[in-house]
Amino acid sequence: MSVGAHAVTTSIIPQWDRKLLFEILDNINDVVLVIDLDTTIVYANEAYAKILGVPVAKVLGRRLDTIEPDSKTITALRTGKVSNNGKDYLDSLNIDVVGSSFPLYDGKNIIGAVSIFKNITEVVQLNRELQITKGVADYLKEQLEQWEHLPLSFKEYVGQNSRLKETLILAAKVARTDSTVLILGESGVGKEVLARAVHNSSRRQNKPMIKVNCAAIPEALLESELFGYEEGAFTGAKKGGKLGKFELAHSGTIFLDEIGDMSLNMQAKLLRVLQEKEFERVGGTKTVKVDIRVIAATNRDLNDMIEKETFRRDLYYRLNIVPLQLTPLRERKDDLLALAKTFQDKFAREVGHELTLSPQVVRLLQAYDWPGNIRELQNVIEHASIVCMNGFIEIHHLPAYIIPIHEDKQRKMDNPYDVKEIVSKVEKELILSALATYNNNRTNALKALGISRRAFYNKLHRYGIEVWGGDIMESTTSLPIKVIG
Ligand SMILES: Nc1ncnc2c1ncn2[C@@H]1O[C@H](COP(=O)(O)OP(=O)(O)OP(=O)(O)O)[C@@H](O)[C@H]1O
Ligand SMILES: [Mg+2]
Repeated sequence: MSVGAHAVTTSIIPQWDRKLLFEILDNINDVVLVIDLDTTIVYANEAYAKILGVPVAKVLGRRLDTIEPDSKTITALRTGKVSNNGKDYLDSLNIDVVGSSFPLYDGKNIIGAVSIFKNITEVVQLNRELQITKGVADYLKEQLEQWEHLPLSFKEYVGQNSRLKETLILAAKVARTDSTVLILGESGVGKEVLARAVHNSSRRQNKPMIKVNCAAIPEALLESELFGYEEGAFTGAKKGGKLGKFELAHSGTIFLDEIGDMSLNMQAKLLRVLQEKEFERVGGTKTVKVDIRVIAATNRDLNDMIEKETFRRDLYYRLNIVPLQLTPLRERKDDLLALAKTFQDKFAREVGHELTLSPQVVRLLQAYDWPGNIRELQNVIEHASIVCMNGFIEIHHLPAYIIPIHEDKQRKMDNPYDVKEIVSKVEKELILSALATYNNNRTNALKALGISRRAFYNKLHRYGIEVWGGDIMESTTSLPIKVIG
């Protein structure tokens, strides 16, 4: 067999028309490849070099079964089958091709095979990119449609942040079911608002949503608060007994807020209700059955609590069917101005005139960390709306604790090195910040500050801080903290 630039076995192509044939083949824009019986490449046209980027001389005489053992050319040779417009991937060159392969016969015996193909790598690549783009477009379209069709209560939820949107879309989906929902997120991030949105969009929307603040009810009372009691169950029990929150929530939703603060003993009792949807009243023997949807919320790290054995793993699995995680405000600053505007409008209605934020205030609000999240922002705007006289909110109208020392021109100091005075100022600001963060919940604030109850109250007195509202205060419509002096 002779192997040259346009080598071909004489047995396959007769001598007399070789020249003409080569000319024809070299002018074809597709690759033409001919192998003989032992898969040796005996012919490749010029398009081979152009399209595949490999000089013809480099491949002539090489065995295709060592280069591309799974190619359709070899299949045609081995099986005698013709493949038309078949796609193939050439591993050795990392390209996609499409074309035809067929065996060559010498009378009745196969003596070789031919492949004629195009390089379609670019097309395949474009097609892949198109598929991905289409997939992403479908996903975004679906998200957009879901967003546009969110029940009204979700739409009213201020926020455009992408992580928040994902959470709201999931919340809207789960709202339509009866599944247990677990809302997770820091204090003041909007867990209760979300719980209400879920309930208001559920089939139970016209039934009550009953809230139980598991942290606020003393352990001894929680059981009767949840399950109710029978007449004479304990001294001081009401005549005729009392319905518990679970019974009140029958056919509606029960919102178990601050679930992470429930004692292990109560967790065990709760687990049974969640599993069986039935319980007994305190002092009673009759089993009460209820049809309820459970929404639970907490700002605690339940996984960490499970590790420390302060939260039951089995209860966690019961609750964690659809977890909804709310992003802290500092991680969705893109929503800050929209939220601030909502509260500006809200308090503008209350004070009876428009409220405008100075550019410096906007910058400060954007830069601040918001440990108390949306509630803290709401409190800050409320504070400023009352303190400013003409509706134009400037830095000195904001609560002192959020103003960085260098921006606070009001904070005069006779001696800037007076350690005692500086420490007092910082201490006072930290207390105010903790109170704002914990919605005036003094117990949580003093825990966060890491000081004793006694020291805490002494300091409140010393700095003239009066806290309005008790530990279980739910909302603040008036100024939450009054600082005297
Ligand atoms: N997306 C929102 N749009 C408008 N106001 C909001 C939004 N989220 C929360 N708020 C307001 O912020 C305050 C705090 O919200 P919420 O009580 O739901 O927080 P929370 O996560 O339950 O806090 P905590 O853990 O302290 O109980 C409420 O006054 C609520 O009206
Ligand atoms: Mg709450």
